[in-house]
Amino acid sequence: MASVASLSASLQQRVSAALAAAVPSAVGADPLLRRSDRADFQANGVLGLAKRAKTNPQALAAQVVEALPAQGPGADGDVIAAVEVSGPGFLNITVSDAAITRNVAARAADDRLGVPFTDKPGITVVDYAQPNVAKEMHVGHLRSSVIGDAIVQILEFGGEQVVRRHHIGDWGTQFGMLVQYLIEHPHELDHSEHEANAGEASMSRLDRLYKASGALFRSDEAFKERSRRRVVDLQAGDPETVALWQRFVDESKIYFDSVYRKLDIEIRDEDIVGESGYNDMLAETCELLEKSGVAVESHGALCVFFDDIKGKDGEPVPLIVRKADGGYGYAATDLSAIRNRTGVLHADTLLYVVDVRQSLHFKMVFETARRAGWLTDGVTARHLPFGTLLGKDGKPFKTRAGESVKLEDLLDEAVQRATAVVREKGEKIGLTEAEITANGTQVGIGAVKYADLSTSLGRDYVFDLDRMVSLNGDTSVYIQYAYARTQSIFRKAAQDQRAAAHPELALEPAERALGLHLDAFGDTLAEVAKVYEPHRLASYLYQLASLFTTFYEQCPVLTAEGGPAQVENRLLLCELTARTLRQGLSLLGIRTPDRL
Ligand code: ARG
Repeated sequence: MASVASLSASLQQRVSAALAAAVPSAVGADPLLRRSDRADFQANGVLGLAKRAKTNPQALAAQVVEALPAQGPGADGDVIAAVEVSGPGFLNITVSDAAITRNVAARAADDRLGVPFTDKPGITVVDYAQPNVAKEMHVGHLRSSVIGDAIVQILEFGGEQVVRRHHIGDWGTQFGMLVQYLIEHPHELDHSEHEANAGEASMSRLDRLYKASGALFRSDEAFKERSRRRVVDLQAGDPETVALWQRFVDESKIYFDSVYRKLDIEIRDEDIVGESGYNDMLAETCELLEKSGVAVESHGALCVFFDDIKGKDGEPVPLIVRKADGGYGYAATDLSAIRNRTGVLHADTLLYVVDVRQSLHFKMVFETARRAGWLTDGVTARHLPFGTLLGKDGKPFKTRAGESVKLEDLLDEAVQRATAVVREKGEKIGLTEAEITANGTQVGIGAVKYADLSTSLGRDYVFDLDRMVSLNGDTSVYIQYAYARTQSIFRKAAQDQRAAAHPELALEPAERALGLHLDAFGDTLAEVAKVYEPHRLASYLYQLASLFTTFYEQCPVLTAEGGPAQVENRLLLCELTARTLRQGLSLLGIRTPDRL
């Protein structure tokens, strides 16, 4: 494994050195290098520097050019082919074809495509994919799972130590009611012998139980009272009660499993540490908050107040850590989880991939944890809020009957639509029925994930299957299709047609554009890992697929007019493109079928 310095990093270094040579006080100044369509790169840093040094920017730019390594043909393999001063003092920089080809070759020679590990890996806890026990998963759980999974994969690829936490909703007073109902109707969770879809069967049992017990709870005072006592038993750890509660958790996990299998997301049992996992810490968490004065009693409840958080009436809105009836809520659990994550897991970064509607909750929880000293200066805690999934009418996504959409139905429909698209093309290229089914699944699930990941996190987006499975436009199918093209080229290549670098060859514009974009993969991943914005990777991959499509249209690969050397050089570009698309999509949780 050898990481490859990106062309932009090499340029950055050379231009910085030239700046420092021209103006000694400019050591360490940023040349402000950007990709540009005038040349390959543009450096805008001379302007500011000239201003500070009170000199003419154009003259200074000329001096910087002078200080750069020799350019032009025969200039011994340097990265820079040409520099030009433009406008008031911009530098337009063209990279040499040889440098692009060498860079592509170096990346292709490495397992990691030349992508370096992060300088200072830390420990990050990612809280994502947190459905609720005994309840149907909804589209909000989809977003948390898809976005969280991509962030986990991207951070891990960069060498970060990631602890995954699925903070499932598995605790609360409703379990008193559910357990009590199960005691009185002991066969309600029994499995029947033939269950075609175990996950669906589990969910329908749970749903039936939830509804039936809820109805009884509302109508029957005596049952209500028995349920309340059951909550106390559960909280006290009464073995019989806990065992029944566990049955609900296990039953739900069968359902979660089936949804996650469909979603093609790996959820490991040891990473499921739900609300109940912090049960033993809740009393102590309250005690510590009370002793330190961070929380105070107000109307019988234990509360934390904030100067800047007030309701519409101007009254302060507190974070309630313990309710007046002595019960602990969501906040107590999250505060205890923070103590565990920093104190025991030694995390330095805590991420929460949760609906934007919980922003206030996390703001208050983080602030409380800071006051209590559980979040120190060395620890970053961030809520990564995501927006709402909308229907075509621009309102939160619902079924026609106005009910919330079942995640499984939505996935099934996406797969069905995608299969139709795959079938149309697939029949022409002779795919078998099994291949059509398999690819349809990968395309459909990919489409759902990509639509989610290509939107910037905080924004709402419209769930539009027609658009999502379209072969044109910013979709995963488009990218998967570009990948399949690369594979088709490899299948058609003759025995002696192999990928190999030929830096002596001049490159066509489409080849240069593709090569330069391939070079930016590592920088893109580093950026995504820093700002936690997977949509930047999605847009990088979409651009890569577009550039490859242009290359494919303009530059014949196996029949290149320049002869065998050019064939090899173009195959090398295809190979690195294929591996970059595959790696990139895989980090987003999206598969790449070989034939589409
Ligand atoms: N189970 C919650 C829900 O469905 C999300 C949990 C988010 N994570 C957390 N640590 N509070 O809304």
